[in-house]
Amino acid sequence: MIIALSGFMGCGKSSVGRELAKMTGLPFTDLDEAICGREGKTIPEIFACGGEQAFREAELSALQAFAQDATGSCILSLGGGTLMTASCEAIIRRTATCVYLKAGIDSLVSYLDGHTEGRPMLSGTDLRQRTETLMAQRGPTYERTADLIVETDGLTYGQVAQKIMETLKIHPHTS
Ligand code: S3P
Repeated sequence: MIIALSGFMGCGKSSVGRELAKMTGLPFTDLDEAICGREGKTIPEIFACGGEQAFREAELSALQAFAQDATGSCILSLGGGTLMTASCEAIIRRTATCVYLKAGIDSLVSYLDGHTEGRPMLSGTDLRQRTETLMAQRGPTYERTADLIVETDGLTYGQVAQKIMETLKIHPHTS
């Protein structure tokens, strides 16, 4: 089973994924890192060369490859926009248990302020307004794709990982 972590930029998908991997002993993959590895470029470089469309194509093909190769249980952190590509949503529905890390706008903005570098979807615009606009577009997709929703405001990454473990009944790594 793939445990896929979804949610808006800055909600903690990668950090929670790493915590969850530590606690469970399951292998962890960050989809953004997989994309960069396959393309040999950073995310801003991919956007600069071919725009958002090139990035979405690279994202879909990295997800297809990951889902095809995945054996046993593993943890995958998605990008904040992954599920907005219909084919990506279909792959996640077919192959994964999807956990939506749901954070409020204030928490997202307060984390993202100072962490927009490397996130072309947030560049050059008013951060709060951009976050609100994108969240309004994306929220329904995050919600409908989720098998589990964890509200993350006020929780540490470890506490979020703990909740996921308990709810999905994943056994802790003991060695
Ligand atoms: C994106 C989110 C990013 C990354 C890319 C596009 C988005 O991942 O995939 O910059 O469209 O929300 P994070 O959610 O890990 O920042």
